Amino acid sequence: MIELNHVTKIYPGASQPAVDSVSLTVPEGEICVFIGPSGCGKTTLMRLINRLIPITSGGISVDGKDIMGLDPIELRRHIGYAIQQVGLFPHMTVRDNIATVPKLLCWSRVKIDARVDELLTLVNLEPKTFRDRFPRQLSGGQAQRVGVARAMAADPPIMLMDEPFGAIDPINREVLQDEFLRIQEKLKKTIIFVTHDINEAIKMGQRIALLKEGRLIQTGLPDELLNRPADEFVKSFVGADRVLKRLNLLKVKDAMMTNPVHCRSEDLSEKVLEQMVKNDLAFLIVADRERRLLGYVNQYDLRGHKGHAGDVARKLTLTVSPERNLKEALSQMLGYDLGILVVVDEDGRIQGVLNSTTLSTLVGSTYDERGGHWGRITAAGRIL
Ligand SMILES: Nc1ncnc2c1ncn2[C@@H]1O[C@H](COP(=O)(O)OP(=O)(O)OP(=O)(O)O)[C@@H](O)[C@H]1O
Ligand SMILES: [Mg+2]
Repeated sequence: MIELNHVTKIYPGASQPAVDSVSLTVPEGEICVFIGPSGCGKTTLMRLINRLIPITSGGISVDGKDIMGLDPIELRRHIGYAIQQVGLFPHMTVRDNIATVPKLLCWSRVKIDARVDELLTLVNLEPKTFRDRFPRQLSGGQAQRVGVARAMAADPPIMLMDEPFGAIDPINREVLQDEFLRIQEKLKKTIIFVTHDINEAIKMGQRIALLKEGRLIQTGLPDELLNRPADEFVKSFVGADRVLKRLNLLKVKDAMMTNPVHCRSEDLSEKVLEQMVKNDLAFLIVADRERRLLGYVNQYDLRGHKGHAGDVARKLTLTVSPERNLKEALSQMLGYDLGILVVVDEDGRIQGVLNSTTLSTLVGSTYDERGGHWGRITAAGRIL
């Protein structure tokens, strides 16, 4: 746990504090994202925490201990730091850069080599190719990833990461973010993560702290910042599309309507049609006995048909898994003309449906959709 108590930093000769009475707790095992405009004091705060610069007033404690009472070298071994400018040692290979702290801790060569290769793989750099390179032989994004690996080398319980993925292209960045979150699930480190990118903040942070001119303006869960921005500054910082951004935080299973109305493949077409007319449904989902999705029928196909609904069911080419995030689901839905998405699990069993009404209700929009072609899709259950 990291606790900041009215932390203030005034650089020598400066007229304004770089950090101004910031109080904040980062609970153990959580990622707290610092975000804010350039020069708002993010890097300064990190350097105060690991005592690279002296504090002017206020207090900082790490795991309940005041950092002023700790040996600075010991403190820094406890805290991994990926600095903003990467700062690899130019005369040392990638391996030796990553091995800096393990060497200080007198790990064996075998253990160090294994750790270096493990970390390079983790940050998506092929160990064989990159292990023996010097920093000048790396691209900016590759160097940054080596910087992240170096910060993680001795497996410190606390990590300070200053824009660790800033120089990395969007695709690799997503890969690293996902990988990082996956590891964090297991390792549960206490992490302060700085970014300029609000989307990254929403994705990575359990908590977000928004700073402006050295002051903490708002801190809270990502959803709180998006849903209840404290003032106009926060509102403009999180962006006009904050409602859409909230979709990134939610999963399909959080928004879907469970037990959607459907019929079975063995139901007689004329009965199904009768019920569809009665309930004003233009389309209907068709399932088998195990609730596996077979497709859908429309009134036109059923009219005059003497067999079973399953015989005339059309395939639904697009379905979505309950674990996908809502933004991806919405974008699929918009590219598809039926206006709903059927949610199926790995075995093809129907779990629910997603339509624009449920989505807009969830994100707090007032958009009122009356069911469209699917009629009263919210009427749950079997139609026959
Ligand atoms: N060593 C220093 N001496 C004097 N002033 C400094 C020093 N380092 C930073 N500052 C000032 O302190 C303020 C906060 O700087 P800091 O580097 O913490 O910002 P930041 O939020 O990390 O910005 P960025 O997003 O650009 O990295 C700035 O106004 C900066 O000019
Ligand atoms: Mg900075």
